[in-house]
Amino acid sequence: MKFSRKMSIFYANKTPRGKAYCKRSMLIKCAQCGLCYIDSNAIGQKLHARYHRNAINGIRVGSQRELESFGKVIEKFTIKVGKMGSIIEANINSRKVQKVLDEVLQAANMVLNSQDNTKRWHGKTKFKGKVFVCIYRARIIGICITETPQIGYWMIQGSNILVPNKNPKLAIGIDRIFVVKTFRRHGIATRLLNAVANHSFYKLKLRPYQIGWSQPSHFGEFVARKYSGVVHPRSGKVLIPVYKQEDV
Ligand SMILES: CC(C)(COP(=O)(O)OP(=O)(O)OC[C@H]1O[C@@H](n2cnc3c(N)ncnc32)[C@H](O)[C@@H]1OP(=O)(O)O)[C@@H](O)C(=O)NCCC(=O)NCCS
Ligand SMILES: [Zn+2]
Repeated sequence: MKFSRKMSIFYANKTPRGKAYCKRSMLIKCAQCGLCYIDSNAIGQKLHARYHRNAINGIRVGSQRELESFGKVIEKFTIKVGKMGSIIEANINSRKVQKVLDEVLQAANMVLNSQDNTKRWHGKTKFKGKVFVCIYRARIIGICITETPQIGYWMIQGSNILVPNKNPKLAIGIDRIFVVKTFRRHGIATRLLNAVANHSFYKLKLRPYQIGWSQPSHFGEFVARKYSGVVHPRSGKVLIPVYKQEDV
């Protein structure tokens, strides 16, 4: 079982001194959201309840006014019969938007087991990417963050092998892509990627193979295969355009 950084902090701060390790035996893992937490502890339960809601149903954007100023609507589409969702390019200059996005990132990092705590929009280095979100009933149910990619490589799908001496010219990189559990396999990641392809550059529509992936996860690789994969004519293997993320 892997411990996220958040949980280690939780242990360090909240458990009585000297009891942290014996308490580990009370850790349980939620089968739905995947969080490991201490069931016998009120703080653990509260932490889980909050995380669970966000991971399963999405993160609340706020009031109708906040929703309207969240960003530019790119696409509206039907998610469930009679219920519309929208793909929005988030206004990352707004403090309120940044706060919500931080929460979404926290949930995504927990799922990805990532310890990435980069302060994308607060740090000294100016954030150069874009953030596309999928909103349904005032909750963010999907997010895709882009960045300027490093040098591109072709990775043989299903392996971590990079094809030598072949470097695809990447126009944009996928820093993060995440969809809450309840709404997976509804085509939301695909819609977010279409938004990346059509709205990353003014009047320029990117081809899927110009969109690079940084360290795709197991499921990320499935999406990358379908969206950006190309079949190598001689070997018949599927190649995915990838790049190595710059160390921060
Ligand atoms: C990866 C993730 C973003 C996919 O989101 P999604 O909205 O479910 O993806 P889509 O519905 O657009 O799927 C597009 C295609 O990807 C493939 N795919 C996606 N999830 C898959 C899965 N669990 N198993 C097999 N193929 C899958 C399929 O080919 C699918 O097309 P299809 O449904 O027509 O067969 C989502 O599963 C997720 O957030 N996972 C946890 C975080 C993560 O791993 N992020 C990727 C980091 S690189
Ligand atoms: Zn849970």
